[in-house]
Amino acid sequence: MLIKRPNEIKATDITDEKIYHARREFLKTSSGAALTVAAGAALPGLWLPDTVQAKIVSLQFKKNPHYVVDEDVTSFKDITRYNNFYEFGTDKKAPAKHAHTLKTDPWTVRVEGEVEKPADYHLEDIIRDSQLEERIYRFRCVEAWSMVIPWVGIPLATLIKRFKPTSKAKYVEFITLYDPEQMPGQRRKVLDWPYVEGLRMDEAMHPLTLMAVGLYGKVLPKQNGAPIRLVVPWKYGFKNIKSIVKIRFTETQPRTTWNLAGPREYGFYANVNPEVDHPRWSQRRERRIGEFFKRKTLMFNGYAEQVAGLYAGMDLRRNY
Ligand code: MTE
Repeated sequence: MLIKRPNEIKATDITDEKIYHARREFLKTSSGAALTVAAGAALPGLWLPDTVQAKIVSLQFKKNPHYVVDEDVTSFKDITRYNNFYEFGTDKKAPAKHAHTLKTDPWTVRVEGEVEKPADYHLEDIIRDSQLEERIYRFRCVEAWSMVIPWVGIPLATLIKRFKPTSKAKYVEFITLYDPEQMPGQRRKVLDWPYVEGLRMDEAMHPLTLMAVGLYGKVLPKQNGAPIRLVVPWKYGFKNIKSIVKIRFTETQPRTTWNLAGPREYGFYANVNPEVDHPRWSQRRERRIGEFFKRKTLMFNGYAEQVAGLYAGMDLRRNY
């Protein structure tokens, strides 16, 4: 078993950011980038008292040196206490308070639609059959705040190849769990549940696109979309759908939750673009959580070199 899950992660169990940086530094100097570690468990007693160490929820992963950013990583505390997860309330603090009702083990992902191998995949099997990697990505919310997050995940392209989509598959649709018992926010009609997102096939297959199962070296906290969520770093945060139970390959563009809720405000593409204002606010600048001054928003969130080609010839003002 690659994953160990305690019943609950308490704030006191969590690796302090400085410790995390120290650990990263240690890994860099001791063994190079390709090191596979069981974070916490592989480094007994090094930085944490035993009581804390025993409760760390570990993942085995490899640091991918190609996907890092030369900026400070946002603190674990901010990443896990300032969230958007409307299934647990619309307030930023609500998911950290309420997401404990979500049962993430066992977890099954149904793969269906234009695919040669439709099946129910157990998350444990998906993880066991994959090489997990750590990638540090910028994350830009449409509400003009941002973070830098050390994700642990599987490139989506690796999974898609395993599912074998047919030649008719032009888009991939992702669907979050619908269960108002576990997700009390779904009892209110704030959005059209379940939450749905989608990507064009070439976006889904792009090497930057990740299915995250962890962050800061540990399994995803529930408020961050446990046990598996999408990470598309050049798009606004709402594309990064959480707690996925279904992946459907389609011929036509899926209808997505925020696009349905406000088509003028939330496009299907949702590429980070400082040139195109949200109808109610500018997207030119952003507040990096943990910093005082706002910073400039970068085209495609700083990933233009890698992804601009996907949109060659498209009018990005219309296809926002
Ligand atoms: N996925 C689901 N199922 N429900 C949500 O409310 N919110 C989105 C996205 N994925 C959301 C979701 C939005 S608006 C953002 S900004 C990111 O999750 C926030 O991710 P984080 O809380 O891990 O920072």
